[in-house]
Amino acid sequence: MKVLAAAAGVQALALGTRAAGRSIGLVPTMGALHEGHLGLVRAARRDTDLVVVSLFVNPTQFGLREDLARYPRDFEGDRRKLQDEGVDVLWAPPTEEVYPAGYQTYIRVEELETRLDGASRPGHFRGVATVVAKLFHVVLPHRAYFGQKDAAQVAVIRRMVRDLNFPLELVVCPIVREPDGLALSSRNAYLGPEDRQAATILYRSLQAAQARYDQGERSAAALRLILFETIASEPRARLDYAEVVDPDSLLPVDQVSSATLLAVAAWLGATRLIDNVVVGKPVV
Ligand code: PAF
Repeated sequence: MKVLAAAAGVQALALGTRAAGRSIGLVPTMGALHEGHLGLVRAARRDTDLVVVSLFVNPTQFGLREDLARYPRDFEGDRRKLQDEGVDVLWAPPTEEVYPAGYQTYIRVEELETRLDGASRPGHFRGVATVVAKLFHVVLPHRAYFGQKDAAQVAVIRRMVRDLNFPLELVVCPIVREPDGLALSSRNAYLGPEDRQAATILYRSLQAAQARYDQGERSAAALRLILFETIASEPRARLDYAEVVDPDSLLPVDQVSSATLLAVAAWLGATRLIDNVVVGKPVV
């Protein structure tokens, strides 16, 4: 596995790979890799000739009072995991490689960036869209792999890919869960034992709403109330949002008549977690 820092080196390799008629798969990450990330890596390894994983804790997607400084970092552990998965290139740029002095170009997906996590984290999706566009320009992937856990991020990137004609396919991989249902997330590492146990309330709320959907409930308000009440039943959890929305527009629906995203976000102490399920026909 090549470990590269400079964008120019990665782009030269990508151009050479394309010229040789070989396909490129990109897995963008911020490191602190878990089985969710490794699922994306395995899908890329299965589908494409050259697998590139980017590892960059992107400062522009963190708000001023967010967890940039304490975001978990384990470069050596990540490097070993990626080596074991047969990754070809690990691109781990320093911040000044991605945002050199004088940097001032940003991408805004104007409506979607204000919805779900974008409403709670102003500026977050501007940072995500910008860095992902840069990753696409440098790595020139045929396919790029993202996790369904960040469903709003997927919607933002899907819109950006369409709007800006990026010639690539987005591959969205399923959420990977702990045995008790908690969705894997690098931020789970922040949770103390009691909050860790309480954190299963996110998935339990989604399961409760899904069960009611399976029994025939189609009213979005009724499903949303189940999400809301289930999370409210856990005293350690503080609800951020519980929404029933269209997975592409992220706008609320009245009735569940096609693929619909049930999405929740909640705070456990100082840690904000998100989770979701899709009911109706699959989106991916
Ligand atoms: O999902 C993430 O880890 C990040 O938002 C991403 C896509 C790597 C951009 O920094």
